[in-house]
Amino acid sequence: MSIEIRQAEPDDLEALVHLDFRNFGGVVEEGDVDEAREELDLDRFLVATEGGRLVGAAGSYAMDLTLPGLEMLSMSGVTWVSVAASHRRRGAAARLMAGLDELSAGFDEPLLGLTASEGGIYERFGYGVTTAIRVIELDRRRASIHRRFEPEPVELVDGQHHRDELFEIYDRFRRIRVGEVSRTPILHRIMTMDRKKPAFAAMHRDGYAIYTIESRWNDGHPVHRLSLTELVAVTPEAHLALWHLLLSVDLVGPIRSTRAVALDDPLPHLLTDPRALRTTDLNDGLWLKVTDPVRCFDARTYRADDRLVVGVVETVDDVRAGAEPVQTVVVGPEGCQEVDEAPDLIACRPALGPLLLGGEATGLARGERLRAEAEVLDRADVLFGTGVGPHCGTPF
Ligand SMILES: CC(C)(COP(=O)(O)OP(=O)(O)OC[C@H]1O[C@@H](n2cnc3c(N)ncnc32)[C@H](O)[C@@H]1OP(=O)(O)O)[C@@H](O)C(=O)NCCC(=O)NCCS
Repeated sequence: MSIEIRQAEPDDLEALVHLDFRNFGGVVEEGDVDEAREELDLDRFLVATEGGRLVGAAGSYAMDLTLPGLEMLSMSGVTWVSVAASHRRRGAAARLMAGLDELSAGFDEPLLGLTASEGGIYERFGYGVTTAIRVIELDRRRASIHRRFEPEPVELVDGQHHRDELFEIYDRFRRIRVGEVSRTPILHRIMTMDRKKPAFAAMHRDGYAIYTIESRWNDGHPVHRLSLTELVAVTPEAHLALWHLLLSVDLVGPIRSTRAVALDDPLPHLLTDPRALRTTDLNDGLWLKVTDPVRCFDARTYRADDRLVVGVVETVDDVRAGAEPVQTVVVGPEGCQEVDEAPDLIACRPALGPLLLGGEATGLARGERLRAEAEVLDRADVLFGTGVGPHCGTPF
């Protein structure tokens, strides 16, 4: 029997939830299907079926991505990609991903983005690593906020009861953070809280921290573990106040975070002992596939009064083979458009995402995702570069 790909329909929802949870190693519980009904827009979903049975799915959220210059671009936030173990490696995911490209074009979205379960899947589909996710551990008892700072007060609340305020703060934050994406209120709740439990939250007028605590009494020598789900700060004052609070939670030993601390987070500069903050893992974060380079590069700002002509090829192999560009565009502060000129640099499609958000052209060239003379690479590093690096703390 062959695998068919088609648009998802409302009747697919229950099977879709069961397929997805099983493929990601989860168990469907009461309320999960209802939650998915609120969360997912099935017009943005495709399913793979065999003999009428659902064996795969892929979809997207309608998201806005924040670019250098703080312009927003509408993006297909690709999600729920999975194929049943019984039907793997028969090309279903590849066909679903191609179908999502078509849906995205139909929604007039000039790029697609995703956060990946594994690092080896998505470059072949045109996606490139654009931000990093840093896992940190911080021993609360070895460091505190330095005495010279005067943190503002924060309020301790149950996040479940303050969802609207937390969402409003997140929505302000993502508009000033290059690489961050919009969430709907329901997505925000799903990403930050377990709907069945109370959620510890610390709130400042311009930021919040959401965390859980696992008790470890150790026969009278308590070393509780604090897992920081999310820390969002619109201002430096909120960042300082929230970290001061987290470092004041008694009985806690390690504080762990998988996405709240960006690579260039100023936290080490605030601590009495910066070495107390350890990076325990560093992974790819947001992957981008730029399908309309003219619209994408036209929407961002640049750091130099320069222009570069970029020839776009599809794959890393095309860069190596010197393939003819499928599109040639001029980029820079004067605007971006298709041109009929010899390219200054050749970039494969997966390299366009990192260039769009400020990634280093020189590093991409070392990885053969881009080709240009050394002098052009220097100019590209300045032109595309940003001060604060891009970061996306939204797993989707
Ligand atoms: C990842 C997944 C969707 C792939 O589905 P699939 O239908 O087996 O993929 P395809 O057969 O279309 O494979 C397309 C290509 O990707 C490769 N590929 C697939 N899964 C891969 C993986 N996990 N790691 C590396 N390469 C992978 C295939 O080898 C194939 O390569 P080729 O084009 O060189 O032949 C499926 O294995 C899955 O559901 N995994 C668990 C859930 C998950 O991780 N989903 C991704 C969420 S971000």
